[in-house]
Amino acid sequence: MSGYVRFASREQAEEEEEEEDSSQEEEEEEEQEPDDMVDKYRLIEELSSGSFSAVFRGENVRTGGAVAVKTERIDNDLGLLRHEIQMYMRLRGTPSIFLPKWYGVSRNQLRCLVLPMGAPSLKVAAQDAAMARLSAANREDLARRVFAELVAALAAVHARGVLHRDVKPANVLVDFIALMQQTSSNSNSNSNSNRGALKLIDLGLATPFTKGLESLGRRPSALIGSPAYASMAAHACAPPAPEQDMESACYVSLFMQRGGNVPWTTTGDVGVVDAAMAAGGEWQRAMWVAALGSGTGSGDDEGSGLGSDALVQLARESV
Ligand SMILES: Nc1ncnc2c1ncn2[C@@H]1O[C@H](COP(=O)(O)OP(=O)(O)OP(=O)(O)O)[C@@H](O)[C@H]1O
Ligand SMILES: [Mg+2]
Repeated sequence: MSGYVRFASREQAEEEEEEEDSSQEEEEEEEQEPDDMVDKYRLIEELSSGSFSAVFRGENVRTGGAVAVKTERIDNDLGLLRHEIQMYMRLRGTPSIFLPKWYGVSRNQLRCLVLPMGAPSLKVAAQDAAMARLSAANREDLARRVFAELVAALAAVHARGVLHRDVKPANVLVDFIALMQQTSSNSNSNSNSNRGALKLIDLGLATPFTKGLESLGRRPSALIGSPAYASMAAHACAPPAPEQDMESACYVSLFMQRGGNVPWTTTGDVGVVDAAMAAGGEWQRAMWVAALGSGTGSGDDEGSGLGSDALVQLARESV
């Protein structure tokens, strides 16, 4: 409402305001565009938007089933989404990776990748009231469980010849309440149990690699990943290698243990990271040291996978 209009009385002001509101509503109704569509999927509302892409909540118009639609403008020359779908295709059948439902261009000219709708990301979950109520001991339990699931998921991705390179809370989806129930009920500790199943998303920075030949890979010219969760080797622009993802997983577990934050803005701040991983407790530090060392087996003839497997085992035993 304009600040320049003077009303004779409060009632008159309210009446005029109501009229203004209803005419505005009518205008909005008239102006409202129909939802965008790609194949049989309707894009309903934007869930998140980054510099290159936006993710929508969507639905299958026939079944009403919920989907997540990652979109990119068709005039975006970088083509990150095209790269992402290639990574999804390469990882088809990996349990911690969604099987895409559709890829194509929407009526409104957005490149779209349609994925099943998953649980909230760890970043979103960290803002959940249920998370805020957890005791320190429960938070540590949850951090251990998330870490065990995350390193197992990453090892499976690595075994298919792909590195994620952007492991961070926003890119990990998990039903943390189901995961906690699984932690506390020993009767259901079967590792094939699907409760709280973790999914890795956002393969925009993922890259193929050849096992055992990582050190011969190309050095990137700048950091690839997110400064607060990237490995120290990634900050140093080392050739991409599996242990870098594992190191990032340690920072994600510290994020969970601290109830939704890490005490730094960049892991390039080595002294701060070192102190915080130690303050995170014996378990945190032990996993971090194991993750940092998990690639050192690559000097052995056969050995780069051994380090990861040992870390996965260690993490599983710690739950
Ligand atoms: N399949 C999905 N199910 C549920 N939520 C999803 C799904 N895909 C994406 N999201 C939500 O959208 C957010 C952004 O998705 P994604 O990371 O793929 O896009 P992005 O543009 O690369 O984001 P950013 O640049 O912030 O990493 C995720 O953090 C998550 O909250
Ligand atoms: Mg992301």
